[in-house]
Amino acid sequence: MTRLAILLSGRGSNFLAIADSISAGRIPGTEIAVVISNKPYVAGIAAAEKRGLNTHVIQSKGIARAEHDAAMVACLREHKVDLVCLAGYMRLISPVFLEAFPNRILNIHPSLLPAFPGLDAQRQALEYGVQVSGCTVHFVDENLDHGIIVLQRSVPVLPEDDEHSLSERILHEEHIAYSEAIRMVLSGEYEIQERRYVRKLAHHGGAETWRTPSRYSSS
Ligand code: GRF
Repeated sequence: MTRLAILLSGRGSNFLAIADSISAGRIPGTEIAVVISNKPYVAGIAAAEKRGLNTHVIQSKGIARAEHDAAMVACLREHKVDLVCLAGYMRLISPVFLEAFPNRILNIHPSLLPAFPGLDAQRQALEYGVQVSGCTVHFVDENLDHGIIVLQRSVPVLPEDDEHSLSERILHEEHIAYSEAIRMVLSGEYEIQERRYVRKLAHHGGAETWRTPSRYSSS
């Protein structure tokens, strides 16, 4: 079983979508080992407790990033976590944390990156006047909302949209995208090539077998 950790700071709708996908068999061979919040009393933790999952609150307020991240890493190791999924986790990840889980930390962001990184991405999209927005699941690196893109899903921005309606439409796609991205990463079928996340080349069968002389030679 691949052991996931979910890190959140709030309501936890992406966490619940991932948990539902696992229950429905859409991310095979996977379980949620632990749900961790850096804030107390959040809905995401209450929902995780209700589902009987392991939960921890590791408060970050007033604590130096390095110290807080060391506590996070210790907790993740204790739960033998393979893949870390940030789902509304409102905190930057320090190098110590990144080094502990190289290419093993995912995040979801409510825009088509690299457009509109940071806070209030949906409002940024409306204010800029884009006609298409969406969500991005990406590997986390040392820069904010910058790591290699695993998967994006787009939505139209409608003339009558406000921040609420656009956020709702994007969130619906987030709930599909995150599970699919986790499935892709855990499948072992994809690899990073420079900044692109692409399907590995098949070395047997497939294209090589049907590219036969009878179809492709000039004789
Ligand atoms: C989502 O919009 C996500 O893209 C962003 O924070 C929000 C978290 O929502 N990073 P939820 O807590 O998963 O409901």
